[in-house]
Formats: sequence, structure tokens, C-alpha cells
Amino acid sequence: MAPRHLMSPLDFSVDELEALMDVAADIEKNPEKYAHVCDGKKLATLFYEPSTRTRLSFEAAMLNLGGKVLGFSSADSSSAAKGESVADTIRVISCYADIAAMRHPKEGAPLVASLHSRIPVINAGDGGHQHPTQTLTDLLTIRSLKGHFDGLKIGLCGDLKFGRTVHSLMNALSRYPGISFTLISPEELRIPSYVRDAMKALGIPMREDVRLDESTMKDLDILYMTRVQRERFFNEEDYIRMKDFYILDSEKMRLAPKDMYILHPLPRVNEISVDVDNDPRAKYFAQAQYGVYIRMALIMNLLGLAPEA
Ligand code: CP
Repeated sequence: MAPRHLMSPLDFSVDELEALMDVAADIEKNPEKYAHVCDGKKLATLFYEPSTRTRLSFEAAMLNLGGKVLGFSSADSSSAAKGESVADTIRVISCYADIAAMRHPKEGAPLVASLHSRIPVINAGDGGHQHPTQTLTDLLTIRSLKGHFDGLKIGLCGDLKFGRTVHSLMNALSRYPGISFTLISPEELRIPSYVRDAMKALGIPMREDVRLDESTMKDLDILYMTRVQRERFFNEEDYIRMKDFYILDSEKMRLAPKDMYILHPLPRVNEISVDVDNDPRAKYFAQAQYGVYIRMALIMNLLGLAPEA
């Protein structure tokens, strides 16, 4: 049977996403139930770009399930440095592992890999395009905090142009009724037109603004902060000009709604001041923990495994 892959959060229906989050919530409550689901299975982490959370939470997820992990953490330490294509690499990895998570700086590279793979391939972030497992993490975090998605007012702030986590999250949330977006970015880092047009076609209310202040935070349920990504800029001057455009600090938090939670895919640089970390509305470290539960649920789903009844 052809393996199922995950390239975009839209690859799962809303019902499938809900079921995945239900499993993740059960894993959080009953981790011991899942400790041997992947006994004898191997996960390959193929990371052509740096990562802390995604790679290590995938590895922790597979280890928590009783499986094993292998892989590489940079293109330089793989045969990509000798010119090997992702198509050839995944053909070979299909002989060594049961499932693979791939991060690559080129948009579409995990999709190319999936076309040549005998095992499930998970897109662990491709260039400025998509980051579906971050989105699963974000959805689980939001559902845990708010209990639902319908009618939520979501603010997204920072690098909305290259921010693959933002593109994936908007795609996923667009399927829930009553969602609206407030998009806060410098002019140069506005949301790409293909994302804006897709949201407009669905009739989703969107407001775009440059300011992160009381007027744009008013009424928000979630504020999703993102980093200005040095690695996506062609010239250093532009990066330096924009890197500290937004700094969310405790003074700004005093102007925010009392029930507006702060999420961030991390890593952060300066866009959230450390004095916000102890605010009960700061949920970005809890979010990183949810990433392990949802990746455990995803690995089981793609391998067609479940705990014994
Ligand atoms: N959120 C995220 O993708 O973090 P890493 O780059 O550390 O994997």
C-alpha cells in the first residue's frame, strides 16, 4: 500500500485533525499507555537546515513510543554535500527506517522526497513555505487553552512573508467557522499575496496593520508572535533594519486583553522580551511541550499503529 505523507496541514481533514488532537491529549494524560506502540520501528530525521525543537521533539516522540531514531542534523554531514539529490536520499532511507521527517531550505523538497519514498515522509519545514507539524502543535495548544477554534480572533505578528509557520497556521484555521485574522507586520514583510488571496476567496475577515499596540491587540484571543528570520534575507542591511521592529514587553502586555494568550513557534530573538515569560498569558514554552504529544500522535497515525486495547 502507498504510504501516507504529511506535506501540509490541509492533508488532514478537520475531523482527522480533531482525532489526532484527541490522541495527543490522551498521551499527555496517560503516557505509559503509549510507551511500546512503536517497539521495533525507526524514525529518520533528515534535517538539511538547523533545528532544535522540531528535530528533537520528533526524536523524543519516537523514543517515548518505544522506537529508535537515526538521521543527520545538517546538509554538511550528509551526502547532500557531495551532490546527492533528495530523491536518491529518500530511496536509500526507505531501506533503513519506517518513517522520515525532513526539513529542507528549498520549498517543495519534502514533496519531491515523498514522490520517491516507500515510507511516510513528514514535511518538518520547507523554506518559507509550510511547517505542518508546527501547525499541529499550535492547534493543540490553542485547543487546550481555548477549548475550541470557532470564532477565534487570531493576531499574527512579525515576519508574515517568509514565516512558514504563519502560512500553515492560517491555512489550517481557515477551515473553522467565524475565524478572523489581524496581520501585523512591516510593509516589507506582509503576508504573501497567494495566502491573502486564498483567505479572501474563503471570505475570512482580515485586517492588516503595521502597529503592535492597544488598537491591534484589542479583542484578540491569541497573539502569535514570530521572529524576523535572518536566514531568509538576501542582504544583512534589510535584516538589521527590521529585526527589532516589534518587541513585546511587559509594558505592552498591560494594554493587552486579560485572556489573550501569547504563542510563538520559537526560537525567539528580541521580539518577546524575557520579562513577558512569567506572565500567565505567555504560553510559548507550554507550546513546545505540546509539540511532543502531537508528533507522537502523528507518527502512530502515519504508521497505522495504536496502543493495544
Ligand atoms: N519551531 C521550530 O520549528 O523550531 P526549530 O527551528 O528549533 O525546529
